[in-house]
Amino acid sequence: MTLIDGKQTAAEIKAEIKQEVDQMVADGKRRPHLAAILVGHDGGSETYVKNKVLACEACGFESTLLRFEDDITEGELLATVERLNSDAAVDGFIVQLPLPRHIDEQRVIEAISPGKDVDGFHPINVGRMVIGLPCFMSATPKGIYELLRRYGIETRGRKCVILGRSNIVGKPMATIMMQKALGDATVEVCHSHSQNLREECATADILVAAIGSPEFVTADMVKPGAVVIDVGTTRVPDATRPRGYRLSGDVKFDEVAPRCSFITPVPGGVGPMTICMLMLNTLQAAKQRVS
Ligand code: GUN
Repeated sequence: MTLIDGKQTAAEIKAEIKQEVDQMVADGKRRPHLAAILVGHDGGSETYVKNKVLACEACGFESTLLRFEDDITEGELLATVERLNSDAAVDGFIVQLPLPRHIDEQRVIEAISPGKDVDGFHPINVGRMVIGLPCFMSATPKGIYELLRRYGIETRGRKCVILGRSNIVGKPMATIMMQKALGDATVEVCHSHSQNLREECATADILVAAIGSPEFVTADMVKPGAVVIDVGTTRVPDATRPRGYRLSGDVKFDEVAPRCSFITPVPGGVGPMTICMLMLNTLQAAKQRVS
């Protein structure tokens, strides 16, 4: 069994990006610039955004964090999105989700200019990805695909089962894995209404668990020799930890790992790759603008 080291792979990719950025600057171009909008004080969102800003530093990017209290109106938020859309100094930006309930999240996503939508959430980017056109791809599935590629894991013609059908992981993961010249795999998506879900998972050469249910995947659901990718990051109360919680994946790691050819840990697997792919998307946005 090989443990897929997302932290190490992400560090390598960030070093590659930094090198490219240094070259861009030496050629007289400006640094890529990512802006992030953070509304309110959700603990998870604060951590994600802080890590995104730190990743920008590691890659040599400029970053701008725009913070708002959670009583911001939808109109004010849309005006901020509009301002960033037309700010020539910003290559790409994200609006950290979730947003407060009085704001229509989809309306905000659709207000972002598709050319600056480095999260790849705008329907234009989602649609372009589905039909195999150049686009910004959602960072988590893109990061998983990159891990599979860098670890030399063959996906062509293999059976990939995806647990979960969310817009930001399950659905785009299925698209990438079935895409000609990308995954080229045979793909099955399982969800809360799937029949014989345990048996379906056990048919997978590559199993991607993205349902946010701690330790849902047990050894009997995994074919011997399978590749298991764990996208879960649920905060589980744990009084023995300094923060009072630990991160739990969707896979019961201790019993599943011995059956696998490859497996991602939580933390240190998919998580670090997600932010790294946001950096790659921002670099792509900057190159589209300066070249
Ligand atoms: N909330 C959880 N994951 C993400 C993400 O990838 N992007 C944004 N904008 N918000 C999130």
